[in-house]
Amino acid sequence: MGNRVAIVADRVGWEERRLIEAAPEFGLHIDWINDESLCLGDPRARSIEGYDALLVRSRSYTRGGLLATLAESTGVTALNSAAAINACENKLVLRAVLSAAGVPVPDYRLVLSRKDFEKALDELGLPVVLKPVYGGMGKRVTLIRDSDLAQSVYDYVEDLGHAFEQACLVEPYLGGGSIRCLVVGREIVAAAEFESAGADWRSNAALGNQSRALAHDPDVQKIVDAVVDRLGAGIYGVDLFKTPSGYLVNEVNHAPAWRGVASTTGVDIPSAVARHVQEVLA
Ligand SMILES: Nc1ncnc2c1ncn2[C@@H]1O[C@H](COP(=O)(O)OP(=O)(O)O)[C@@H](O)[C@H]1O
Ligand SMILES: [Mg+2]
Repeated sequence: MGNRVAIVADRVGWEERRLIEAAPEFGLHIDWINDESLCLGDPRARSIEGYDALLVRSRSYTRGGLLATLAESTGVTALNSAAAINACENKLVLRAVLSAAGVPVPDYRLVLSRKDFEKALDELGLPVVLKPVYGGMGKRVTLIRDSDLAQSVYDYVEDLGHAFEQACLVEPYLGGGSIRCLVVGREIVAAAEFESAGADWRSNAALGNQSRALAHDPDVQKIVDAVVDRLGAGIYGVDLFKTPSGYLVNEVNHAPAWRGVASTTGVDIPSAVARHVQEVLA
């Protein structure tokens, strides 16, 4: 059984530090490797030689899938799998994949031009949320309540976004709360409901908001099971919106922050993650 694990990330944050601390109790040896220093591609890449698994925790929404793909091609296990990370990194691909698997997701339109934008507003009606297809940490996620604002906001997308950043989703605004389910392996180990509070309308587990632990809910369980069936066992932050017609999966974070959920629920998440890594390597 292997026990050498590299956390591949841009930095050692709160979650990574706790994983490194928890490792010995589970017979694991975990190091941090800077995700900018791997220079992968060589089938015998020295930078990851000797590791049994890479725990991909890059905060960037472009690096994880690339690194996991190359790790797997050199025979090193990637957690999460390259396929799962590649799906999660792109909000549109993820929604298409989940929706094809029967998982309910919000209605949305892909917006690549002002024409698309106007059509999307027309079809969905205000208020809408405009967000980048590639994004994270709530950045540039914009709530548009007012049609006067809409065209000017799109000016910024058109004039200042690179081609890559101009790809956007427009979707109905689904209220001020969201549910974060932290999945480890196939289980929901902790779940909390976040409400936006204060100056920012976004209620994001990473932005820090008011939250409370969520009691077991069979509807949530069913949706999260379907997500895990599609993506495979892993470590995920599954974000849901509660709507009058049921829960919808907004997105799945493949390198989830869990400080908020951990402090709200008191669950020992690093131990759950270390146990999962141990099982994968056994
Ligand atoms: N359609 C929506 N309706 C209501 N709130 C939303 C919607 N989309 C995003 N948000 C809010 O913005 C936050 C960030 O958006 P999200 O889609 O999770 O992107 P990111 O990858 O940047 O976290 C969410 O946690 C939620 O609070
Ligand atoms: Mg999010």
